[in-house]
Amino acid sequence: MDAVTLRYGRDFDLAYSDIGAERYLRTGELLTDGDLDDMRRSDAVLFGAIGDPRVAPGILEKGILLRMRTSMDQYVNLRPVRSWHPYVPLKRETDFDIRFLRENTEDFYMGAGGRFGGSRGGMSSLSVDRSLYSLRMELRAEGCEDEFAYEIGLLSRKGVERFADFAFRYAASRGEEGITLVDKANVIEMYGMQREVFAEKSEEYGMRLNFMYADAMAMAMVSRPETFGTVAVPNLFGDVLTDLGAQLQGGLGLGASGNICPGGVSMFEPIHGSAPDIAGKGIANPIGAVLALSMLLENLGFAEEAEAVGSAVRACLSEGSVTPDLGGTLSTAAAGKRMGELVLTRR
Ligand code: IPM
Ligand code: MG
Repeated sequence: MDAVTLRYGRDFDLAYSDIGAERYLRTGELLTDGDLDDMRRSDAVLFGAIGDPRVAPGILEKGILLRMRTSMDQYVNLRPVRSWHPYVPLKRETDFDIRFLRENTEDFYMGAGGRFGGSRGGMSSLSVDRSLYSLRMELRAEGCEDEFAYEIGLLSRKGVERFADFAFRYAASRGEEGITLVDKANVIEMYGMQREVFAEKSEEYGMRLNFMYADAMAMAMVSRPETFGTVAVPNLFGDVLTDLGAQLQGGLGLGASGNICPGGVSMFEPIHGSAPDIAGKGIANPIGAVLALSMLLENLGFAEEAEAVGSAVRACLSEGSVTPDLGGTLSTAAAGKRMGELVLTRR
């Protein structure tokens, strides 16, 4: 960011927010209303990585990251999967550039789960609040002594429609003729509605629509990744398939993503977590975070700056100025410095 500021004479106004495990352990705060106000006043948010072994699983993830995505209505999570040769682990050399669009506010990520029955009593009630609707549901176990655990996956027609609109427009803007939609419509009822809406939109936009089951998609990503362009995927399958995608492109350290709220404030982050096993060693790969910055700049309309950052990453990857996870010897700071130099000296 400093290199971009210097090289292009931009006067970016940066504000830092102390959000994460450290503050949570100190003050008990996760994502506060004040944090959200700060973000809403910004043009975009660049987020680090989250997760800390001192905090029970789910607290930071739901209380910070998922709350950010849903409160800011960042309903599309854009996760490119590109072939960063020579780091691609496939035997057959092939070039690919898959654009995963992961739906980011619905499906099994509603936080609509719980346990009931047995000693917990026979009823569970839950409420879901989204920008598009709010719902209250009750589940009752009658005459049954057993205990149950459940998680409700939910899709709203409006939610699917806005996601489909984004996907077709995105593919069209990239000159593609159609998109792929991933689901498990052969088993899970709600994806039937998703297919219906996407099929209507495909007619409306005059673009092709190709269906893939999530399990077959996992296979096809390994056997023929070059055949995919824009891929729309519901939230949970998107989580899984994009980790596979990250590894395909050369490693989790290379994955970047944008949580997009069209017309609102978007948030950009690497797709990896905080890698607590290597904390403090200075060997974390900075590329995922740097590519997230490139996506942020592109999203705000700074095309040249975004390209400068992207090409600095490409140059580091091809000259081997990389961290040990990619077989290099550079520290996180040294790899970051090299990318900065490349931005600064760009003609
Ligand atoms: C991701 C992460 C998150 C998710 C976790 C940390 C909640 O795995 O961004 O892919 O499941 O979305
Ligand atoms: Mg994930």
